[in-house]
Amino acid sequence: MESLGVLLLHPMNAYLEQELDRRFRLIRLWDSPPDARADFLRSNAPAIRAVVGNAGYNADAALIDALPSLEIVASFSVGIDRVDLAKCRERGIRVTNTPDVLTDDVADLAVGLAIAALRKIPQADRYVRAGLWKSKGDYTLTTRFSGKRVAILGLGRIGLAVAKRAEAFDCSISYHSRSQKPFPKYRFFTNVVDLAANCDVLIVACSLNPETHHIVSREVIDALGPEGVLINIGRGAHVDEPELVSALLEKRLGAAGLDVFEHEPFVPEQLLGLDNVVLVPHVGSDTVETCMAMADLFSGKRVGIIGLGRIGLAIAT
Ligand code: DGY
Repeated sequence: MESLGVLLLHPMNAYLEQELDRRFRLIRLWDSPPDARADFLRSNAPAIRAVVGNAGYNADAALIDALPSLEIVASFSVGIDRVDLAKCRERGIRVTNTPDVLTDDVADLAVGLAIAALRKIPQADRYVRAGLWKSKGDYTLTTRFSGKRVAILGLGRIGLAVAKRAEAFDCSISYHSRSQKPFPKYRFFTNVVDLAANCDVLIVACSLNPETHHIVSREVIDALGPEGVLINIGRGAHVDEPELVSALLEKRLGAAGLDVFEHEPFVPEQLLGLDNVVLVPHVGSDTVETCMAMADLFSGKRVGIIGLGRIGLAIAT
């Protein structure tokens, strides 16, 4: 039987590549130098029936157009905003992702970033390393997370897992979500500016689509105000990044904790010099446990129709 050609857009974890290698003919994009990619794709295109991407780079319109035999795009991520879904729908290409298995880790990171930003943990670490600590109490006072008013943008799987964790810290929870499903335990806001004005910590956990692009606007940032904290574990483009940078520089926003950026891996240079922001390189799901679970889901050990992730996305088909 002719083996199915699978184009990998990024190196995957070794365990997953090994699993995929047993069943498919893997074509690795990085085997060709960037300036020879068009020729590389042209010569391999007839064999490529599946593309594997992730939250960084995925099947955009140009790539899909270059692959006439493409049947499935499998994303090693829960978010599929980098996949051109309209094109997939037009061509009848299936799209899969890896939901559920990463929920806990991403939610853990959201709370971790909130605590790190409020308690200034990275700054304290830098203080000690710089040899500045001379006696108990000479480091600045910080702010507690427990008991704060936490607002969550997007109460899907990850948003709910964040809420559960924040409740354990005695936080009150409010939210804004597209879903009509009611969560009577939590306070619902139809308006994101009002949500921001009524919380201490705003956590972005929704998916990125045209409606949520720049949902955290200048108005929302100003409503959070100089004591407010913004945590983004969703997508960089949820936030108007230049507005966020200005607000942090001018201290119109208290602090931020960011796992995602608008043009990853680019991080605005002004952020690098600021002490009121905690920066991490899109690592929400990057634990050994989750990557192994994602790999099992992907390679068909858990579920998966042809073993390239979960066919969870009727959107594209
Ligand atoms: C995803 O899988 O979409 C997340 O961004 C991982 O952090």
